[in-house]
Amino acid sequence: MGKNRIETKQADEALLASLGYKQELRRAFTPFEVFGVAFSVIGLVPAMTSVLFNAVPNGGAVSIVWGWALACLPILCIGMAMAELASAAPTSGGLYYWTYTFSSPRCRNLLSWIVGYINTIGSITAVASVDWACAVQIAAGATIGSNQAYVTTNAQLYGIYLAIVLSHGVLVSLGTTILARLQTVYIILNICLCLAIIVALPVATPPEFKNSASYALGNFTNTSGWPSGFAFIVGLLYPLWAIGGYDASIHMSEEASNAAVAIPWAIVGSIAVTGVLGWVMNISLVFCMGTDLANLTGSPVGQPMAQILYNSLGKQGALVLWAMIVLVQYMMGSSALLAASRQTFAFARDGALPFSRLFHRINSYTKTPVNTVWFVVVMSVLLGLLAFAGTQAINAVFTIVVTSQYISYMLPIFARFAFKNNFEPGPFNLGCLGFPVAAIAVSFMFFMVIVFLFPATPQTSVAEMNYTIVVLGGVMFFALVWYYFPVYGGVHWFKGPVENIGSQGRKDSMSQNWDQESVPRVEKGSAVEEVVIIVKDQ
Ligand SMILES: *[C@@H]1O[C@H](CO)[C@@H](O)[C@H](O)[C@H]1NC(C)=O
Repeated sequence: MGKNRIETKQADEALLASLGYKQELRRAFTPFEVFGVAFSVIGLVPAMTSVLFNAVPNGGAVSIVWGWALACLPILCIGMAMAELASAAPTSGGLYYWTYTFSSPRCRNLLSWIVGYINTIGSITAVASVDWACAVQIAAGATIGSNQAYVTTNAQLYGIYLAIVLSHGVLVSLGTTILARLQTVYIILNICLCLAIIVALPVATPPEFKNSASYALGNFTNTSGWPSGFAFIVGLLYPLWAIGGYDASIHMSEEASNAAVAIPWAIVGSIAVTGVLGWVMNISLVFCMGTDLANLTGSPVGQPMAQILYNSLGKQGALVLWAMIVLVQYMMGSSALLAASRQTFAFARDGALPFSRLFHRINSYTKTPVNTVWFVVVMSVLLGLLAFAGTQAINAVFTIVVTSQYISYMLPIFARFAFKNNFEPGPFNLGCLGFPVAAIAVSFMFFMVIVFLFPATPQTSVAEMNYTIVVLGGVMFFALVWYYFPVYGGVHWFKGPVENIGSQGRKDSMSQNWDQESVPRVEKGSAVEEVVIIVKDQ
């Protein structure tokens, strides 16, 4: 047993070295715990709870049940296409590293830069969206507890949000081992919640809230103002956000044992498990939610899931389940922060972020990248300020997450087939199905990104305009300006992922374009040099 562990560790480190990196983080995560990270970032019950508000007005029962089922297939294709890449090159930078190695030398620096930025902002927004949903859920709990007399303002919500984000900062700064061991607790609590919704809810629901099969599986109610077909598509935000963030496990690639097998199966497995379990739960929900959809979204509780639980289980029962949902949601936030800090760490290691030198640093006591954790915390605190522009504005964090994830997933999968490269499959590969799966994944993501750039309702005002495009556009603008900035811009020194292992690394890299010329060179005084110096210091 002990020997196997050492062999696995050596194989993991050799693979990482062939990608150009030396082992800096501790490989503390077993394959099951990596699955736990993916599963708890997806979060299932709390995730469904967070975005159910989006499906209810955009089609009601049909969107909840059939929108979910329909979305699962392309989501699985995206997951499988990514799993192939994760198996071939398991590094915590993942997406932007792959984009670089698969793309043509003419555009790979820029593409990798863009993917890195979008993925970084996406993983930061994921923290903001999960923690915001957690704040909203705590407030909904207070409303239920006060018999719907107490309603929280957006300023109070922001206060709760601050407390959640800051406490996550402390939690994630602690050692990796504690976080790894917590994954098992997350999974067990999540499964208990699923069972409660699948079994206890139908048993407890009073007859006046029970729905007929024809209503539950066939009633389409659209109150969003969009034409019905488009409303159904907008309602897909529900499954797409709920089953999202599965790239979290990729960012754990350098902390997982047997990464080339564990990471891809964590991605595919977590999508499959949440897709099926979630669908069964949705069926339970539509049979127990009554027909008064306006009451679900418009009641003082303001949260359809909370209102359903309240109607079915009464105050006490609803509060017990709700407390569990809030707890798992809170844990989901810590996993999201964990993943976001690792993505930021990897991107800073390649010198691409402002102050990379500061962010590519591992705290010697906790052995975790504490600086990037707090960078993500500060950025999330700033994103939360959208709450003061209104509910639609802060709800844009959910679409920003999906949109930015999809842009950053799309490019490496596309690059693998679009450019000439020597892609060498890892232990997880789809063989000849690789191309069709990738084609479905990329077209679906492209389509959904366009959809999410529309406003949430057709009547657009300042409060209801689409903040997705504002935030994403702002980050893209900043990234491009910094890339092309005279003298200091990335175009002058960013050469994609920087190997930090010395000259023997990356020989078997998948890019056929590697040669002396294209190996990133360290230029005097550049941010890259600073990174190299820090690495040498350790
Ligand atoms: C859906 O249910 C509502 C409320 O019972 C009803 O008014 C509406 O006609 C139903 N729509 C369809 C398409 O069955």
